[in-house]
Amino acid sequence: MTELLVQGGYLIASVLFILAIKLLASPRTARQGNLLGALGMLIGVVVTLLHRQIVRYEWIGVGVGVGAALAAWLALTVKMTAMPQMVSLLNGFGGAASALVAGAEAGRALYTGSLADLSFFSLLTIGLSVLIGAVTFTGSLIAFAKLQEVMTGRPIVLPAHHGQSLLLLGVSLAGMGYLLYAQQELGLWVLAAAAAILGVWITLPVGGADMPVIVAFLNSLSGLAAAATGFVLTNYLLIIAGVLVGASGLILTQIMARAMNRSLWNVLFGAVGAQGPAATAEGRTVRSTTAEDVALMLAYAKEVVIIPGYGMAVAQAQHAVKKLTDALEKRGVQVRFAIHPVAGRMPGHMNVLLAEADIPYEKLYEMERINPDMPQVDVALVIGANDVVNPAARTDPHSPLYGMPIIDADKARTVVVLKRSMNPGFAGVENALFYQPNTYMLFGDARKSLEAVVEALKEV
Ligand code: TAP
Repeated sequence: MTELLVQGGYLIASVLFILAIKLLASPRTARQGNLLGALGMLIGVVVTLLHRQIVRYEWIGVGVGVGAALAAWLALTVKMTAMPQMVSLLNGFGGAASALVAGAEAGRALYTGSLADLSFFSLLTIGLSVLIGAVTFTGSLIAFAKLQEVMTGRPIVLPAHHGQSLLLLGVSLAGMGYLLYAQQELGLWVLAAAAAILGVWITLPVGGADMPVIVAFLNSLSGLAAAATGFVLTNYLLIIAGVLVGASGLILTQIMARAMNRSLWNVLFGAVGAQGPAATAEGRTVRSTTAEDVALMLAYAKEVVIIPGYGMAVAQAQHAVKKLTDALEKRGVQVRFAIHPVAGRMPGHMNVLLAEADIPYEKLYEMERINPDMPQVDVALVIGANDVVNPAARTDPHSPLYGMPIIDADKARTVVVLKRSMNPGFAGVENALFYQPNTYMLFGDARKSLEAVVEALKEV
């Protein structure tokens, strides 16, 4: 009877996970998807606790209590802009948990006898779980440290770096072989240690704008580690959930790599951004402008395209953007939003912020859809975006951004850029857009600048 309840619960949870992923695919239904996913997880946890193999609940209770309190605190306090680091940490903990659970299964066999008591398949899945889990854990910690700026965000490449990584992979596989064929504990330790260093070695050479891609890739690995652990425990829910995370993470990795016109191979092994900055600002002039002048330009435009970026998130300017949009539309100006797939610091970052300010989804245009219209646009209003509108991505083969598709703000008749200074964006490179003769810089915090423009519009 309990078994039926457990398997039934797992089935319902699996269906909820699949539905959740489906709903997460659109910003309209994403919240619902999140809730369904959480419900699936709750059902999965509760029915697992009913499982007959669990003999004592005290430590589980402590784990649930501490974990839930920590999660609630983090969910309430982590800033939207710090989400990628947070996701990195969660991926890392997922990988570590998978490796530890698989290791504990090996420990159980050792406690009651020897590893030879386990089948070849069990040892193989334990080995895979430890391999992938350890790589995910340490790789994610390095990604976290880079994104949190605990260490440099630039690529770190040691002499013969990729050769060393290959060697570490070779040692990991040798450890796995020793585990499988000699059934010796030492094999597991060698595997775990080499895989843990390998995770660090894989992530060190990735930096700058490539970080989101490696975070998505590590997310996918955390799913595969969980799936391998599902095989170790013969737990179907863990296998299904792990495969879903693994597959969706891999699809996201592909989408992001493609958005930057790169292959995953190139992201992992290209060390893009290791070279110095490309074009410099020497001898070029910048036109700075005022809120009043921007209000005039916007009021007499027929078509305005707003290009939001990370700075809009920092300034929390989305509500001011909405006010400006309403004011312009009232005057008959057509306003659209151009959304770059890696604008901000996480997938869908801009969509979430604009939805929060009730900006209709129909006004949001993906890069490919809006770019052909850009030459007819009167004003491109760049709000805290930088890398995603850097024309060097199209024109300068020496730029670390070269090859990444961008929003063609530079092709608009007039460009207005809202940012605080001439500081570069995430990739740390100069932006020639700011020096174009038709570009005007409105310096200051984006929210304050927008509020000033809305005020000034009332006078036009
Ligand atoms: P960035 O290139 O990072 O530029 C953001 C700009 O916002 C900066 O130049 C900054 O200039 C300005 N800014 C910051 N605070 C501001 C404020 N309070 N008011 C006004 N401006 C402010 O942003 P982007 O164009 O959105 O590009 C995103 C970059 O992040 C890409 O390189 C992407 O690859 C990377 N990345 C993306 C993700 C995902 S998945 N979206 C995740 C991690 C990294 P000032 O300092 O002069 O104000």
